[in-house]
Amino acid sequence: MDVSMKRRTLLKVIVLGDSGVGKTSLMNRYVYNKFSEQYKPTIGADFITKELLIDDKLVTLQIWDTAGQERFQSLGSAFYRGADCCILVYDINVHRSFETLQHWHDEFLKQADPTDPDIFPFVLLGNKIDIDGGSSRMVSDKKAREWCASRGNIPYFETSAKEDHNVDEAFLAAAKTALTNE
Ligand code: GTP
Ligand code: MG
Repeated sequence: MDVSMKRRTLLKVIVLGDSGVGKTSLMNRYVYNKFSEQYKPTIGADFITKELLIDDKLVTLQIWDTAGQERFQSLGSAFYRGADCCILVYDINVHRSFETLQHWHDEFLKQADPTDPDIFPFVLLGNKIDIDGGSSRMVSDKKAREWCASRGNIPYFETSAKEDHNVDEAFLAAAKTALTNE
């Protein structure tokens, strides 16, 4: 069958996590294959889209980037509604960004108000694994996996936006979990 004749599925994915963990960088790596060392805080929220073919299904991923800095969270959280998946991001070198995951998780469910919060698809990314070859790590892989396991087996990926490690895999997993829950 011609690709253009296939049914298109729109999946809305929200990326959340503390300021500076690398949300924008992961998206830019995934969609544009680009990385910048320079930090430009995200203001408000905006999305970019990427077309994907998953098991013969044409999928448009609408990926929403959000501001980690509280003073820039100007839009409120109305845009969480209708989300199909939430990607939570922390920096494995910053313990605080791991501790706040619960807040982002709970806040998301509160605002998005999905039909069945117990099975809503999340994916967790531990970013910046490239720094100091991993020797400045503050959160162990085991601890992160335990966090995921106790919240309904959230898939976990350790990533580097800088070195393009596991980024495609992570977004693909997000798209797939979103699809199954559609
Ligand atoms: P807010 O928009 O404020 O919420 O931050 P953010 O989560 O979007 O972080 P952003 O992507 O802007 O990245 C913050 C800083 O971390 C930038 O200087 C990036 O270059 C850097 N950075 C992002 N990902 C990585 C990574 O995988 N490795 C390294 N070494 N640096 C990274
Ligand atoms: Mg950003």
